[in-house]
Amino acid sequence: MESMEIRPIIRMGNPILRLKANAVEPEHTDSLTTIIPDMIATMRDAGGVGLAAPQIGISLRLMVFEVPVSRATNLDGDKPCGIQVLINPNFNPATSDKELGWEGCLSIPGLRGEVPRYKEITYTGFNGEGTPIETFASGFHARVVQHEMDHLDGILYPDRMIDLTRFGYVEEFTKMQEQSRSPDGVIKNGGANG
Ligand code: NI
Repeated sequence: MESMEIRPIIRMGNPILRLKANAVEPEHTDSLTTIIPDMIATMRDAGGVGLAAPQIGISLRLMVFEVPVSRATNLDGDKPCGIQVLINPNFNPATSDKELGWEGCLSIPGLRGEVPRYKEITYTGFNGEGTPIETFASGFHARVVQHEMDHLDGILYPDRMIDLTRFGYVEEFTKMQEQSRSPDGVIKNGGANG
């Protein structure tokens, strides 16, 4: 067993979250063997489905994420997948179409907001073994990658919102949902939690 350490997740207000993170270079390779398992353990412990290195105070272009069965739309590019490691990622929209979806963020606990994201993207980068990857993603898969990519550029999801009336505490949305007055899907889909 590799040793894994759950690290503290830093929250909105910490200036590290607003930096453009640095590219992962060969000199970082050794440190990644501890950072990556720690990121996965930290994400799991927090109940999230995505985490970017800046969220644990490491300003490197590195993310982990997964597409749980409960979130996947099963469309082309959005099948469930286990933990993915993505290093030095880039993406291009595969369509100009955006769609609104509810997101949460482990650095903004307790809140959810409705965020426009490209419906389809193609992303590139390197996996945890250093192998180049190029992947088409849609739906939730595309959303979580865009959310985590933003963390590498110092952007948090509220920055992307176009209607701040669709931003609030999940507890309040839950109460409203129980009374059938909540924005549809906010609880059912749970937010991206990245
Ligand atoms: Ni996040």
